[in-house]
Amino acid sequence: MVKIAIMGYGTVGSGVYDIIKADNFAYEAMNPIEIKYILDIRDFPDHPEKQIFTKDFNDILNDDEIYCVVEAMGGLKPAYEFTKALLMAGKNVVTSNKELVATHGPELLKIAKENNLNYLFEASVGGGIPIIKPLCSSLKANTVKKIAGILNGTTNFILTQMIDEGMSFKDALKMAQDNGYAERDPSADIEGHDACRKIAILASLAWGEYVNYKDIWTEGITKITLEDVETASKLGYSVKLIGYCQKREKLAIWVSPMLVRHSCPLSAANGVFNAILVDGNYLGQSMFYGQGAGKFATASAMVADVIESVRHINAKKAYIEWNMPEKNNILPISESENRYFVRTKAEKGSIKKIFGNVSVNEINGERVFITDIIKECDFESKVKPLSPISKIRVLDA
Ligand code: NDP
Ligand code: HSE
Repeated sequence: MVKIAIMGYGTVGSGVYDIIKADNFAYEAMNPIEIKYILDIRDFPDHPEKQIFTKDFNDILNDDEIYCVVEAMGGLKPAYEFTKALLMAGKNVVTSNKELVATHGPELLKIAKENNLNYLFEASVGGGIPIIKPLCSSLKANTVKKIAGILNGTTNFILTQMIDEGMSFKDALKMAQDNGYAERDPSADIEGHDACRKIAILASLAWGEYVNYKDIWTEGITKITLEDVETASKLGYSVKLIGYCQKREKLAIWVSPMLVRHSCPLSAANGVFNAILVDGNYLGQSMFYGQGAGKFATASAMVADVIESVRHINAKKAYIEWNMPEKNNILPISESENRYFVRTKAEKGSIKKIFGNVSVNEINGERVFITDIIKECDFESKVKPLSPISKIRVLDA
């Protein structure tokens, strides 16, 4: 019997509890798993196992029987101090907390390595989708060239509800919150910060060098209108919130709404589903797709990490190392190169004069066009005289 603890009994933590109570994974983990403590600040007087709840972190920290701890509290405080203390006390930690991994990953991974422990975070990106493990092992023969993904379930859910059901932004957000998809502060979802932490984690894993999410250009979905979505659709594109990174000399990386061609598999990910395209030099494109948020989807990834950790109870643990870069290696967004979708009231002649022989469409009394590939700073100065109604980057996948 291997004893574990859960910290945070909210959407995700309660999902981990339910899954492990339904099956102790004795076969998969080669040892039955038992939940000895649940830490939460709230009371659960009607819970069938109310005796395992504690409000005192030290109960878990000081109990030698606890082999692995599931951190599903969220936020940095006190999750960072707790995780560090647990690792230093020789306990494996599994987390869904992307904010913590993106902020303190290098230090926590180093402590885990030094103590031959697991610090596992499959649930931190893409909810239940296996993407961390593939990047750490299955894709290792490849040099990753590019990653582009729909990394936030809440915003994809909101966009889908607005487009398919004609729901208002506010109602769609409320529904995402009621379904347990959104962050405690949902501005992290809609302003793109959550997707930013996730693309930072993926980029750090893909190239082995820590990418600080604070350096990543980030835009959310709040400026996207139904007119943008409908016009883009007439040209054969969907509008998605995309986390993008591409490694050349410098790392081109950002989070922003992007036009995605209907023929691109990312375009088919709707609702709470996430999808992540990884471009490897040998494999070519592979896509990882599934439910990106929600109680059981996320808990399924966390329980798999617990099983992984218990399964290798006496073995040397595989570790992840994120080297700190010597200097900021991120390409400024103004230097990035894209095609851009533009809606404007300006005349066709003025557009052609500035952007050359682009194809200009007449849609609902507006001129709509997509530029050739151009550096962002050049695009910005060229498009200004056209007083664009909107301008959105176009994904090249
Ligand atoms: P919830 O808010 O539903 O659950 C967090 C729980 O932890 C709450 O019960 C909270 O209590 C409790 N808690 C907070 N602080 C403490 C503390 N100091 N000591 C003990 N308990 C504490 O969040 P989620 O389950 O949705 O998310 C948890 C983590 O998983 C976050 O990092 C989130 O980003 C991540 N995640 C969430 C997904 C989802 O679909 N929901 C998907 C993937 C990752 P109280 O409510 O009283 O504060
Ligand atoms: N709020 C996050 C989302 C949870 O909507 O994607 C999953 O990380």
